Amino acid sequence: MPVENKIDFDTLIKSDQVHGSLYHNEEIYKEELEKIWFKTWVYVGHESEIPKTNDFIMKSIGPQPVIMTRDRKNKIQLLQNRCPHRGNQVCVKQKGNAKLFTCPYHSWTFSNSGDLVGYAFPEGYEGNPNADKKKLGLAKVARVASYRGFIFGSMAEEGPSLEEHLGGAMEMLDRVCLTSPEGEIEVTAGFLKHKTRSNWKFLVENETDGYHPAFVHSSIFSVAESGIGGLYDNKSTALTRDYGNGHTEVDLRPEFRKFDEPMRWFGTTPKKLPDYVKNMNAAYGDTRAREIMIDGTPHAMIYPNLFIAEIQLFVIQPVAVDETVQHVTALQFKGAPVLNRRMRQQTMGSVGPAGFLLADDSEMYERTQRGVKSKQPEWLFLGRGEQREYRDEDGYRVSHATDETPSRGIWRHYRSLMEE
Ligand code: FES
Ligand SMILES: [Fe+2]
Repeated sequence: MPVENKIDFDTLIKSDQVHGSLYHNEEIYKEELEKIWFKTWVYVGHESEIPKTNDFIMKSIGPQPVIMTRDRKNKIQLLQNRCPHRGNQVCVKQKGNAKLFTCPYHSWTFSNSGDLVGYAFPEGYEGNPNADKKKLGLAKVARVASYRGFIFGSMAEEGPSLEEHLGGAMEMLDRVCLTSPEGEIEVTAGFLKHKTRSNWKFLVENETDGYHPAFVHSSIFSVAESGIGGLYDNKSTALTRDYGNGHTEVDLRPEFRKFDEPMRWFGTTPKKLPDYVKNMNAAYGDTRAREIMIDGTPHAMIYPNLFIAEIQLFVIQPVAVDETVQHVTALQFKGAPVLNRRMRQQTMGSVGPAGFLLADDSEMYERTQRGVKSKQPEWLFLGRGEQREYRDEDGYRVSHATDETPSRGIWRHYRSLMEE
């Protein structure tokens, strides 16, 4: 059912200010589900999570569960987990390998491409023209597309293609894959889930907010004796970039290029990873491999829910106006087993149950959610760096690492989606 356009988003979003109600108003959240989550391209999962024929895994699009399957013809399907009989959830397992799904309620059975293959006690449906099996399959997510193994779904039959949606941000996914000697990433390390009592947009904006790390993450930077703090310092040469369509990045490459040391982005040296360096040199040639190993992986937010945080992959899932789940896993690079082990260890240290990094961010998300409900001032100010923002050679807006260029880009895109 289409939602009536009662809210005037033009008056709530200005170029450098947004109205606080955007983060806690229930009606706005419902409208976001229709106009963003159940319409545009949303990241669902990665091909490596269902490598074999008949593999399946439970995923989501916004608050709604989705079964991602590799059907018997090896085609990737995104099925809605709702029985066409009486609405029961058909699949309750997190993942597995199955040719068929049987609904636990009255035992209707579906293929892994969603077709109804049989109902129990079929005599009761004989002669009933509405009981046509072809019309009673599991609903599919209307469009499924993938880029370099990253699978996206859109519940709208029509709209921009995935390539059009990703635009310049596609290059960030290319950059992630380049870090593998085989040019592919794998999502095989398992996910941690963190529930946060905060609106999803605070998380999206925070992922490429380079202003907060110096303060919120100062404790982990100091105990870990990490060089990361310098990347977000006032004197940093790192940049923020707005790719349009809501996609943003903190581009740390200028800092890493300044030091000109391979693997500095990972806090290590080539000596500690001899096999990886050898494989990278063989794959890309010494010169190109060295450049890749200096640049490192991106810090990229693909709108609305995929965050590549150098060594981790996050999926942001809104479950209510003031509740969001973050699914996080260590990135794994094909052909780099030793690097992968360290990726997993570092991920456990930073975003695992005892990790500081996500706990510190979550504290800020929840405090902001509570704070923004106070009546005054009604607006949030996002004007940092507007006066020193410029266009790079590709025409994208860029500015200093600590500037709010990404937030302004995210809201520009949000307004265009919500006004449609
Ligand atoms: S609800 Fe699924 S078979 Fe009845
Ligand atoms: Fe943070």
